Amino acid sequence: MISLMLIVLLVIVLYFYGTRNFAYWKKRGVKYETPIVFFGGIINNFIENISPSERLSNLYRAHPDEKIVGLFEGNKPFVLVRDPDIIKHILTTDFKYFHRRGMNLSNHFTEPLMMNLFFVDDDVWKLLRQNLTSAFSSAKLKAMFPLIVERADKLTQIAKESAEFQDEIDVRELMARYTTDFIGACGFGIDSQALNEENSDFRKLGKRIFKRNLRDVFVALLMAMFPEKFKNLHLFAPEIEEKTFSIVGQIMAQRDYKPSGRNDFIDLLLELRQKGKIVGESIVKRKPDGSPETVELELNDKVLAAQAFIFFAAGFETSSAASSFLLHMLAYHPEIQEKCRNEVDAVLKSYDGKLCYDAVKDMKYLEMAFKESMRCLLSPGFLLRVTCTKYPIPGTDVVLEEGMRVVISLDGLCSDQQYFKEPEEFRPERFHPDNIGRIKKFTYMPFGEGPRACIGERMGVMQSLAGVATILRSFTVAPSRSSLRKPRIDPKSMIVQTILGGLPLALRQR
Ligand code: HEM
Repeated sequence: MISLMLIVLLVIVLYFYGTRNFAYWKKRGVKYETPIVFFGGIINNFIENISPSERLSNLYRAHPDEKIVGLFEGNKPFVLVRDPDIIKHILTTDFKYFHRRGMNLSNHFTEPLMMNLFFVDDDVWKLLRQNLTSAFSSAKLKAMFPLIVERADKLTQIAKESAEFQDEIDVRELMARYTTDFIGACGFGIDSQALNEENSDFRKLGKRIFKRNLRDVFVALLMAMFPEKFKNLHLFAPEIEEKTFSIVGQIMAQRDYKPSGRNDFIDLLLELRQKGKIVGESIVKRKPDGSPETVELELNDKVLAAQAFIFFAAGFETSSAASSFLLHMLAYHPEIQEKCRNEVDAVLKSYDGKLCYDAVKDMKYLEMAFKESMRCLLSPGFLLRVTCTKYPIPGTDVVLEEGMRVVISLDGLCSDQQYFKEPEEFRPERFHPDNIGRIKKFTYMPFGEGPRACIGERMGVMQSLAGVATILRSFTVAPSRSSLRKPRIDPKSMIVQTILGGLPLALRQR
């Protein structure tokens, strides 16, 4: 009897502990996603078998009249901001309140790979961003172009073999091999062999980073629900950590730890290594006179390898998702495919048949189609920010406390018919220069916005357009026996949305 009473008592205590914050949004008069004890809303990903992006866009759609909607991750309140005018404040005007992305929920950096530009916040972010931006200048991109062309030639070769011998090919995998090879060459100065060998080391690493297994899902769940208790767990599996440090270490050693003159990411990291530390103005600390304090960051090999890691991970997966999805959309819209191909043919003719930086820049219709396909499927389906101090949300009575997590559903905004008429239709003309001004600002942001927007946007666009133009100049793409018009998002996707079963298409040589 006593033990039964103890169990009942324990259940009651656990229940109250697990629901202690659940009145948070109700008290503030904000509509919210119904939370479940201990898990908050995070469990809906599992119950409904959907990805976090899909869960957030469902929540966005369920509250068409709200500017903000509450939700809970574990016991912690989060806020989904739906209103583009408030979003503008968060991402740009009021950036000083929102320079944190908050990927590291416990704020303890015990995991070396987490020290990358995407995951860090505050002064570490500011110093790294300032010093890494030069890797993506127009001059560097132009200089990289011959490497894109080499990969594009190999891409044609592989696609040719597939067109000859197979009735379908997974273009998601094909473009992943192309972008992996490109990042290997221009970022790391190595021939990763990802295009030649289906299972090259680089491709295997790339697949492992984005193919989450049970261990990854479980660890991410624990870290999201109990950040302090599980702060020593590693989000990235040990094999990812070991492989990254080993690859980057080897390349640096081959260059004798000095910049080699190749001007790639590794050279930039080696230049920073030679400095030993980077110095700049603090984004958080102020002197008594109000001016920013000077801060510095020691650059050890692990911090440098973490930057190489994020350029690799953020660089290949997003671009290959975006370029393969464009091919998929073109396969289902042959008339738009024809228009893109005619443009590719005409532009290449004016450049003596050579694919080059300026030629890709002239493919305006292809770029419109690319933008529209990114609207239809966003690689990262949401943006994250965290308040650095208390923040009264403009146009509402709600004041966000310091440390409040803010999410913006890119998917929700891009499929909202208020902003995009008949959003399910694939219409590149939405992005025609005559129409683009009609798109409400801060509703279309596949690369994010403001000072924390994607650092590699131009590189991502350039390599994606070059890859798609390469396919279109030699092949037609069409749905194949296992294509699905509306492919299913992998429920295990974390930030970048991956597609279950890939994107099979039939390639035919012209
Ligand atoms: C089509 C290709 C790409 C897409 C759709 C994409 C999308 C994004 C998005 C949505 C963000 C978050 C922005 C925000 O929070 O406001 C981001 C950040 C980032 N991306 Fe990309 N990206 C692409 C290509 C690349 C490439 C090629 C690289 C590098 C080689 C890269 C590196 C990064 C990094 C380092 C960040 C974090 C920036 C910071 O916090 O300062 N991305 N990207």
